[in-house]
Amino acid sequence: MLEVKNLKKSFGKKTVLKDINLQIKKGDIIGIIGPSGCGKSTLLRCINMLEIPTSGEVILNGNNIVDDKSHTDTRRKIGMVFQQFNLFNHKTVLENITLAPILLGLMTEKKAIKEARKLLKEIDLEDLANLYPNQLSGGQKQRVAIVRTLIMNPDIILFDEPTSALDPEMIGEVTNLMRKLAKEGMTMLIVSHEMNFIKNFCTRVVFLSDGVVKEEGTSKDIFDNPKDEKLKIFLSKINNY
Ligand SMILES: Nc1ncnc2c1ncn2[C@@H]1O[C@H](COP(=O)(O)OP(=O)(O)O)[C@@H](O)[C@H]1O
Ligand SMILES: [Mg+2]
Repeated sequence: MLEVKNLKKSFGKKTVLKDINLQIKKGDIIGIIGPSGCGKSTLLRCINMLEIPTSGEVILNGNNIVDDKSHTDTRRKIGMVFQQFNLFNHKTVLENITLAPILLGLMTEKKAIKEARKLLKEIDLEDLANLYPNQLSGGQKQRVAIVRTLIMNPDIILFDEPTSALDPEMIGEVTNLMRKLAKEGMTMLIVSHEMNFIKNFCTRVVFLSDGVVKEEGTSKDIFDNPKDEKLKIFLSKINNY
């Protein structure tokens, strides 16, 4: 469904991603782990064209989206959830969720509002519709941010440390929503430092280091039987799994 081929990304003289290759099938839940600064966020941003790759291909449903002139369609099909939620603070929950589908002409305002309310109701957040982000808890903000991607009916959702900015007691409500999406068959690519969550939730785990995929496998392969020396060192520094 999504394939990353020989992806390279440099910022000036600094090459962050050297040669990344990934194959993602529908329904895959892939965890991306690796040391701070190894390029996890850059990889996600290159996949939905928030950063344009220096070279290489990102193939979504058979099309190399790096070549697309407009990335509007790409961003509709590839949702992204950020650590800091990235909600518009001067817009209500409902306005945040309905903004993109209305702006892109995918839905009438009436239809978008109906759809947003339905999605909010599914996760018991319908009472928040007319509140502003600063009236919400972190966990509520992140769930609203996830609903904002869902209204676009994406093929895949990229999560960049979705629980890192949350108080510990709110992590569960966000991971539970992610579990619900997984059950419904959503394809997801997740960067997280919550190793326990990655280990138990992801169908496949990718270890990124030195600009390449150093090792990839099932949770069991990666966490219980790591082979790459850098992966062993990385895991030995983390004790929450
Ligand atoms: N827009 C940018 N301009 C220059 N350097 C960047 C930019 N974005 C990221 N980098 C650099 O790329 C490297 C990888 O960053 P990032 O993808 O955020 O890592 P991670 O998410 O794994 O912690 C870092 O050294 C960072 O400073
Ligand atoms: Mg990052």
